[in-house]
Amino acid sequence: MRFPQSGIFALGTPSHAYLEFDARDGDGLVAAIASLREPRTTMGGVNLVAGFRPELWRAVAPDDSPDGVAGFDADLVGIDGFVMPATQHDAVLWLSGASYDVVFDVARAAIAELAPLASVADETSSWPYQHDRDLTGFVDGTENPTLIEAPEIMLVPEGRPGAGGTILLLQKWPHDTAAWELLPVEEQELVIGRRKLDSLELEDKPADSHVASTDQDDFGKIFRRNMPYGTVTDHGTMFVGFSAEQRPLEAMLESMAGLKTGARDALTRYSRPLTGAYYFVPSADALRGPVT
Ligand code: HEM
Repeated sequence: MRFPQSGIFALGTPSHAYLEFDARDGDGLVAAIASLREPRTTMGGVNLVAGFRPELWRAVAPDDSPDGVAGFDADLVGIDGFVMPATQHDAVLWLSGASYDVVFDVARAAIAELAPLASVADETSSWPYQHDRDLTGFVDGTENPTLIEAPEIMLVPEGRPGAGGTILLLQKWPHDTAAWELLPVEEQELVIGRRKLDSLELEDKPADSHVASTDQDDFGKIFRRNMPYGTVTDHGTMFVGFSAEQRPLEAMLESMAGLKTGARDALTRYSRPLTGAYYFVPSADALRGPVT
C-alpha cells in the first residue's frame, strides 16, 4: 500500500505557508525536495507537503504518474470577460504548524537548501479566522469528507500509476471585502447558498450560488484545505483543493466561470483569482523512492 504525504490531513494547524518555485534544474529540484526533512519534534513540529508540476513529476517518475494530468498552462476564460489566470510553477511546498515561527524557520531553511536549483516565485502565509470561517465570514469546509472518507476520495487508488498521490489545485482568491460587506447577510447567504451563522444549506439556493456552482453531486468529490491569507488591507482565500482526478477540479472552475450554465458563480462578483496552478502531490513512498 502507498502512503500519502501525511501533512495533507493535518487539520487544526494555525500557521501555514505556501511556497511556489520556478526551477533552474527540474530533475535536481525534485531530488532536493524529496530529501528535505521536517523537524522531528512533534509538539512544535511542522508538516511539509511537496507537489510538482505534473509534467515535471512525469519526467522524473514516468511509471508513478497519473495519466493525463497537466499544469494550469492557459488562462481559463469565462463569460463576461472573467478570467482565471494560469500561473503554473514547477513545485510547491506547503508547510503548516502550531505557530508561525517554526513554519517561518523551516520555510527559510528549505528556500536556502533549494536556492541553487530554484527560486521562490510566489509566497503566501495563511492563518485561520474565527475557528473555521473564511474571510467572507462563512464556515468553509462544511461539505468536506471526513478524515476517514477523504483518502479514498482524493488519493489515486492502489494499482494505478501515481497511487497514493493526489492532484492539488492551488489558487489565491483576493476578496473585494468592501463590496462583500456592503451586502446584507441574507444576500451574502444567497451568494454562498448556505446560512452564515450555522452553515445550513439553503433549500431554495439560487442556481448561481457558490455551492450550486460547485455541487459535488454533479462534479465529483474533492477534499478542501482552504485557508484565509493576507494582510489587513489585502486578503482573501487560499483555495487548496485535492482530488484523485483533475477533471472535477477543472469542471468546478469552468462552472464558476459560467461555462456550464451561462451564469457565473455569484461569488466571482466578490472575488477573482490572482493565481492558479495544478501540482501532483506524490505518495510519501514515491517521493522517498526513485528520486532520493
Ligand atoms: C474565494 C474563493 C472561495 C471561497 C471564499 C469559498 C468558500 C466556500 C464556502 C463558504 C462553501 C460552503 C461550505 C462548504 O461546504 O465548505 C464552499 C463550498 C464549496 N466550494 Fe468553495 N470557495 C472558494 C473557491 C472555490 C473553488 C475555486 C472551488 C473549486 C475549484 C470550490 C469548491 C467548493 C466545493 C466543492 C464546495 C462544496 C459544494 C457542495 O456542497 O458539494 N470553492 N466554498
